[in-house]
Amino acid sequence: MDTVRLDKSEQDLERAAELLRSGELVAFPTETVYGLGAYAMDPQAVDKIFEAKGRPSDNPLIVHIAYREQLKDLAAEIPPAGCVLMDMFWPGPLTLIFPRTEFVPDRVTAGLSTVAVRMPNHPVALALLEKSGLPVAAPSANRSGRPSPTAASHVLEDLEGRIAAVVDGGTTGVGVESTVLDITVHPPMILRPGGVTKEMLEEVLGEVQLDPSLERNHAEVRAPRSPGMKYTHYAPKAEMWIVEGSVDKQVQMIQSLVDKSRAEGIRTGVLTTTEHQGVYNSDVVLFCGERKALETVSAGLYGALREFDQQGVERIYSESFPEEGIGAAIMNRLRKAAGYRVVR
Ligand code: TXA
Ligand code: MG
Repeated sequence: MDTVRLDKSEQDLERAAELLRSGELVAFPTETVYGLGAYAMDPQAVDKIFEAKGRPSDNPLIVHIAYREQLKDLAAEIPPAGCVLMDMFWPGPLTLIFPRTEFVPDRVTAGLSTVAVRMPNHPVALALLEKSGLPVAAPSANRSGRPSPTAASHVLEDLEGRIAAVVDGGTTGVGVESTVLDITVHPPMILRPGGVTKEMLEEVLGEVQLDPSLERNHAEVRAPRSPGMKYTHYAPKAEMWIVEGSVDKQVQMIQSLVDKSRAEGIRTGVLTTTEHQGVYNSDVVLFCGERKALETVSAGLYGALREFDQQGVERIYSESFPEEGIGAAIMNRLRKAAGYRVVR
């Protein structure tokens, strides 16, 4: 199959909407990462997502909508916290878990009694959803296990020839996937940290729980409630290590680990921020945003992980970041990318 490259012109968006209506896969930009969309109510179209991505079938999908009225066909009921959260954060990087209706195909929910829904805050995503008039199931548009795509070129790297089209809307803003919040429990529980932070949710809801599998040291031992969180995700091909400690200690530790690694003949990379320009001596040094503005780090993270692969890096040492605000999502993705290899 030839993958058609489309842009955000009226004409191209109309074509993308028509492909969705006819049961084909279309990748499109959102404010978090690129999504791989299919008409959510068409089980055969949804099957194609799992096939194209090589995604395990027990991992449910997020349904994307442009209007709140579309919830009627998807959610059997709106739990109390739902309305205020939608008022505050939709459109935006917050996925809400609702009790599902009987109309949502089992392929979308992986047989669960709930459905994940979000309204993305991106003009191209919203225009496509509006034009098609459909609820669109869309996981991140990467091959399963690879870092999520933050540019159309990343989508093509992974899925060229396997999907009908990609709509190029430039690079995405937030850079990590949406926050997944279960509002069927009280207090609501964060299943995946993302762009809408725990602090922002607490301000609105008072109390918020964190899925115990997200606690720093428990990720390996506890089964997460969000099925997707159990897979090795977001991973570059290189073996990656996260270095913790004060920033000065991190820098010293990373340089000494790099020296040892290179002495063994291993092509070694460092993931750092622009504050540390010229500080490291390694085969590849990549700068992912500014430490003092963590949203720039999340925006650049997945692109940097892909770049290490492009440059043939075999081992990566990464700095770590404070787990406040968007920092919680950054560290969650870094730990997963590193398969929980941490140096303290
Ligand atoms: O930012 C995002 O959310 C992106 C863009 C494209 O919208 N999408 C995305 O989808 O990250 P995906 O499939 O890569 O991740 C969906 C996550 C998985 O961890 C999945 O297990 C969880 O949402 N999920 C989906 N339905 C669920 C449900 N009913 N209950 C609990 N977790 C659910
Ligand atoms: Mg994903």
